[in-house]
Amino acid sequence: MTPTLLELLAVAREDEASQSPGPAKASVTSDTGTPTYLEDFPESLKAWSENEKSESESPNGENELADSLLNLSVSSIPEAEEELDYSLEKEGPELIDISSEYIVISPSSDSMEEETSKSNEKSLISDSEKLNPRSSDSSENVELSKSKGKKRVTLSDEDVVFSENLSLTKISTLRPCPSVAMKLDILDSIDISPDGSAMMEEAWERVKKSYVYFKGQPVGTLAAMDPSAEDLNYNQVFVRDFVPSGLACLMRNEPDIVKHFLLKTLHLQGWEKRIDNFTLGEGVMPASFKVLFDPHRQKEILVADFGGSAIGRVAPVDSGFWWIILLRSYTKCTRDHTLADRPEVQRGMKLILNLCLSDGFDTFPTLLCADGCSMIDRRMGIYGYPIEIQALFFFALRCARQMLKAERDGKELIERIDKRIKALSFHIQKYYWLDFTQLNNIYRYKTEEYSHTAVNKFNVIPESIPDWVFDFMPLRGGYLIGNVSPARMDFRWFLVGNCIAILSCLATSAQATAIMDLVEERWEDLVGEMPLKIVYPALEGHEWRTVTGFDPKNTRWSYHNGGSWPVLLWLLTAACIKTGRPQIAKRAIELAEQRLSKDGWAEYYDGKTGRYIGKQARKYQTWSISGYLVAKMMIENPANLLISLEEDKRIANSTHARSASY
Ligand code: GLC
Repeated sequence: MTPTLLELLAVAREDEASQSPGPAKASVTSDTGTPTYLEDFPESLKAWSENEKSESESPNGENELADSLLNLSVSSIPEAEEELDYSLEKEGPELIDISSEYIVISPSSDSMEEETSKSNEKSLISDSEKLNPRSSDSSENVELSKSKGKKRVTLSDEDVVFSENLSLTKISTLRPCPSVAMKLDILDSIDISPDGSAMMEEAWERVKKSYVYFKGQPVGTLAAMDPSAEDLNYNQVFVRDFVPSGLACLMRNEPDIVKHFLLKTLHLQGWEKRIDNFTLGEGVMPASFKVLFDPHRQKEILVADFGGSAIGRVAPVDSGFWWIILLRSYTKCTRDHTLADRPEVQRGMKLILNLCLSDGFDTFPTLLCADGCSMIDRRMGIYGYPIEIQALFFFALRCARQMLKAERDGKELIERIDKRIKALSFHIQKYYWLDFTQLNNIYRYKTEEYSHTAVNKFNVIPESIPDWVFDFMPLRGGYLIGNVSPARMDFRWFLVGNCIAILSCLATSAQATAIMDLVEERWEDLVGEMPLKIVYPALEGHEWRTVTGFDPKNTRWSYHNGGSWPVLLWLLTAACIKTGRPQIAKRAIELAEQRLSKDGWAEYYDGKTGRYIGKQARKYQTWSISGYLVAKMMIENPANLLISLEEDKRIANSTHARSASY
């Protein structure tokens, strides 16, 4: 008989009392380019920026960080800091339950990375003999025994109860939204947040409370800690959600949680991933994971979701990319190259890249995706070649390029990466770019052109341009549109894709500037009263019905469909600093500070200008909190822009050369 939730809770509390440490004991549930404008910045950034510049612009155009990573000899690697005990107990890990819902892995030891790396090594070899033919005869194999493991609820009081009056910032009046015409330079001299430091303190406390522990070590942050709403999957560590938390910890010089997170998720990648009878690609990273307690073995176990539980059953294409990007940020911030150099970490990167660099029927260098495979994890008409994934793909390729070692199969992979980076940047810069001039060109397109001389390469019918774009497009500014495929251009604005394109230098510097211009020109639409619109505009009426499939959570101007997400503040801020436009970020941060803490750090806001707390928004959403922290720490000290990449002159040159030859 299935125990009731109350029964489970009771057992869980007993367990909790007798079990292991950690302030926010892991929960849980379920019975199933260099800134061009530096005047505003403190000396630290200028120094950092110069440093970056000289690092990235060696005479032969090679990227220095990449070189330094690739050339590091083992003896020159500084001693790794104290490791977690990732070694295995003799008996090896045990898979206690595989269902279409979760892969449940019971670590029969304190850690499994070593075993993961062995089993990974073996399967990579069998997949691709040429990567490492010599070791394919390894006799070590992990026996996985499958049995129906009972999942338990382990909720501690700390998980669900936390002080409502916890240093809440007292901001009583809502200041008017700064008008677009407001002189931006005035803002530079304004102390943007009299309440900022209290808010920062509160934010840190809340982030700390969201820590999830495994074997006494922090391995991630819960998606939300809203005592008033049903947990659903918000009691898990989401890979994408952890990125701002991880960056905040790096900026605060607390890198351990990031390291543990990277290793734990790498470990999860190593396990067989099955949804119904179908086995997912080896490189797929989980969307989320949680820590449960196995009462039989008296041990904590990890439970991961690779899309099997997600609404719509879609694998998270973005997870692997974020993982690589965070790994590079960790390496850059700590200068601890030993983590990225580990064989199992190198292998994890290769597996992710193998998923996206494999040959197929593609005629575009972009990555074909299903709806719901990224932050927008429900049907929103982003299937095809969504800008968010393409930008993250490009970003991850460039990060991996810096960290991959050229030895053995690495060299060939690096060559593939280089080719893809060039093709991808050309494709996106040319075909996704929309500004006033380009819109006018498309408006006048001829159709049914044949052969390579075609101007309208994808046969886009001008009548398919939605009316709103003509009004929305300012004379000054432009952006990368949502999607491009045969006869289809999704003209919607997506913030994540555009900001990631800036941070990774996928957008040219002229394009990056134009994107920031657009944000200024269309402030009311894209920022409104609460930063920031995830997508603009919303789908309404018939379009909403056909594109979302009548999704009641994604009604117009709500959630993914034109809702406003405070977490996006960190991405905008990073893009602003990168393009030398900190004033824009300051305005947005100021807006968030008026309400975010007071509103209980909501997940998202609804309405055309984002005035209302979202209908089903969680409160105390961790990435709303850590996103704010990261934005603040970057704007206060732009040297914290560690996630950003410098322009690689080789890509820019090759793109221009190819462009000119067309
Ligand atoms: C929602 C969001 C997704 C996020 C998750 C956890 O499903 O759409 O992007 O990762 O919540 O916060």
